[in-house]
Amino acid sequence: MRIGIPSETAESERRVAVTPSGVRTLVEAGHEVVVESGAGAAAGFADAAYTDAGASIAGRDDVIGSAGVVVQVDGPTADELAGPEWSKLGADHVLVGLHDPLGQPDRAAALAATGATAVSLELIPRTTKAQSMDVLSSMATVAGYQAVLLGASRIPKLVPMLMTAAGTVPPSRFLVLGAGVAGLQALATARRLGGVVEGYDVRPAAQEQIRSLGAKAIELDLDTSAAEGEGGYATEQTDDQASRQLELLAPHVADADVVITTAAVPGATSPELVTREMIEAMRPGSVIVDLAAGRGGNTRLTRADEEVVHAGVTILGPTDLASRAPATSSQMFSTNVLALLRHLAPDGEPVIDLDDEITAGTVLTRDGEVRHPAVRERLGLMQPAGKEDR
Ligand code: NAI
Repeated sequence: MRIGIPSETAESERRVAVTPSGVRTLVEAGHEVVVESGAGAAAGFADAAYTDAGASIAGRDDVIGSAGVVVQVDGPTADELAGPEWSKLGADHVLVGLHDPLGQPDRAAALAATGATAVSLELIPRTTKAQSMDVLSSMATVAGYQAVLLGASRIPKLVPMLMTAAGTVPPSRFLVLGAGVAGLQALATARRLGGVVEGYDVRPAAQEQIRSLGAKAIELDLDTSAAEGEGGYATEQTDDQASRQLELLAPHVADADVVITTAAVPGATSPELVTREMIEAMRPGSVIVDLAAGRGGNTRLTRADEEVVHAGVTILGPTDLASRAPATSSQMFSTNVLALLRHLAPDGEPVIDLDDEITAGTVLTRDGEVRHPAVRERLGLMQPAGKEDR
């Protein structure tokens, strides 16, 4: 198959969807790869590395082409789709990338209108079989690590305990709220830096994972037996549970130098985990890194990609942490995408087999229609016969 890799256009995006080593694997498997000039530059991959790996370098028009598979990190926006660059997009294209279908369903509608088959990486089922394709887990891993470095660099202290001739320097305290993929990586990273680390998650299964990283698992006097829903994700709490949780977490928050929040519930706004009063009880100079900023935030004071200082506490809401380590995140992204391409095209050309669980779950648009039930619902479209809501 012919695979095009265009440059990314989103502001502050430094990743590239396929690295030179990914290109080499694709070329060895018999595919033709066309890369837009400069596509890998921000991640440290020069055009020459792509040509060495067997790709050809071309302008954007040729990369998008009139047919084939186009792979991006961030898929085109609705505005971009309306412009000339994407005018050749049609039924002979398979477009693989992050299309933010639940956050921006209008983008899905614009993709459907082109007739292209859009494959949305956010929709990859979180099953053992699809683990090698799970871009969200890869990016959460990078973001969790980066969040700790960011927090550590912003507090007025060093992280580890030091015994020096100038006396003993106590270690800094980290609190991680939400121990999913990003949270667990944050816990591990903060431990490696030498911090005193505590973690909390509503899902009881997370306790053991927190402890296995050498961090303290906070146990609250709260019944969370129903907190884990389908696919291992958290379910929404009742108001009573949420307010009791806030009350019980307050002393842990007050004691922390860095609080990293990652809590999310699929399909719902992020829960408030740190209130204004809890922030006011923290020591001045402390930092909150809110990884849920893009989905509403875990504090009401969080502003996505802005820095807010309240009562001497800095609240950061970065949404581009994966892009801040673009070589690593591109490498992981590329590996995940290659696994997906192998799945979609085991014999060379893509076969969109909608009876296959992974393919069916991931195809967002096909034959001019938005397929995914939850996205159709957001667009006010009727569900096709025989499709249950997800
Ligand atoms: P996420 O980004 O949706 O949420 C992050 C964390 O916030 C979750 O651990 C959730 O339990 C927690 N949370 C939600 N509300 C909370 C609250 N009120 N207080 C404290 N914590 C709260 O989750 P992520 O990181 O995408 O994955 C969560 C789980 O999904 C994993 O632990 C795993 O069970 C499952 N998963 C399975 C995969 C696979 O089988 N391939 C891959 C990745 C995740």
